[in-house]
Amino acid sequence: MTTLAHVSDLHFGRPAVAERLDALKDFIAGVEPDAIAVSGDLTQRCTNREFRQARAYLDSLAKTAPCVVIPGNHDIRWLGAVARNLGLARLFREQAHNFKYSRYVRHVSEDLSPSLEVPGAVIVGVNTAHGITRGSITRRFRDLGVIGHVKHADVERVREAFENASPDAARVVMLHHNPIRGELSGRHGLANTEQALHAFADLGTELILCGHDHQDAVHSIERGTHGLVISTAGTISNRIRAGRASSFNLVEIDADNLRITAHAWRQGKGFVPSEDRTFPRQTASRRA
Ligand SMILES: [Fe+2]
Ligand SMILES: [Fe+2]
Repeated sequence: MTTLAHVSDLHFGRPAVAERLDALKDFIAGVEPDAIAVSGDLTQRCTNREFRQARAYLDSLAKTAPCVVIPGNHDIRWLGAVARNLGLARLFREQAHNFKYSRYVRHVSEDLSPSLEVPGAVIVGVNTAHGITRGSITRRFRDLGVIGHVKHADVERVREAFENASPDAARVVMLHHNPIRGELSGRHGLANTEQALHAFADLGTELILCGHDHQDAVHSIERGTHGLVISTAGTISNRIRAGRASSFNLVEIDADNLRITAHAWRQGKGFVPSEDRTFPRQTASRRA
């Protein structure tokens, strides 16, 4: 059995709640997962101070298990990068890239799309937070700087990482932006959702981890001949949707099944299991 703690949208800064963060850390230490996957939005306003707090927290999680972390739209300085982003000259685009991710790179990692393989699973992080770029411009003004997209080069990186991983490792992709419309928000996180889902399905992805929507959800979908399970982790912060609680997802993978258990914050009780779903693994049905 491989266990992954999937947490998202910590939002260090005003929305962060120390009590919940401490409880999460203790919970994870008790579970001793094989890996901790953090699907972006570490900060609220992308400040150095927030990043320092996030860094310290990630370091404390890493004492329990290896962490794989990607940036979210709140972790990039997209506004200041707009002019450079849209520039035609390659030089400007490079400057924009460096500027956008400068704080994330300084405090968290130079690798915006890291991979991690543990026994039983390979998790490939894909950075979908690019700010305002050609790929993420939609007709809706409120998407500006918020929506993400999956770049072709990253799909190729996933392919390569999967090719190099152990054949019996579950294939997992981690994104920040939700590829399934949020029930309460009514919104997709990605500008190129269908293209991305088909590409990941074709690569044999079994599970997608994402966040951004601030509402926990578990879906199973079919694209082409492949089935995909999507774990959307809620937020640990207090930026929760009406009627919902702070939450995270626990993923358990064995040879036959993939099980996701959402854990919701209950005042006075801490994080408690709130909903769980089990799916037969693709690889198990292929073996049969
Ligand atoms: Fe968020
Ligand atoms: Fe986000």
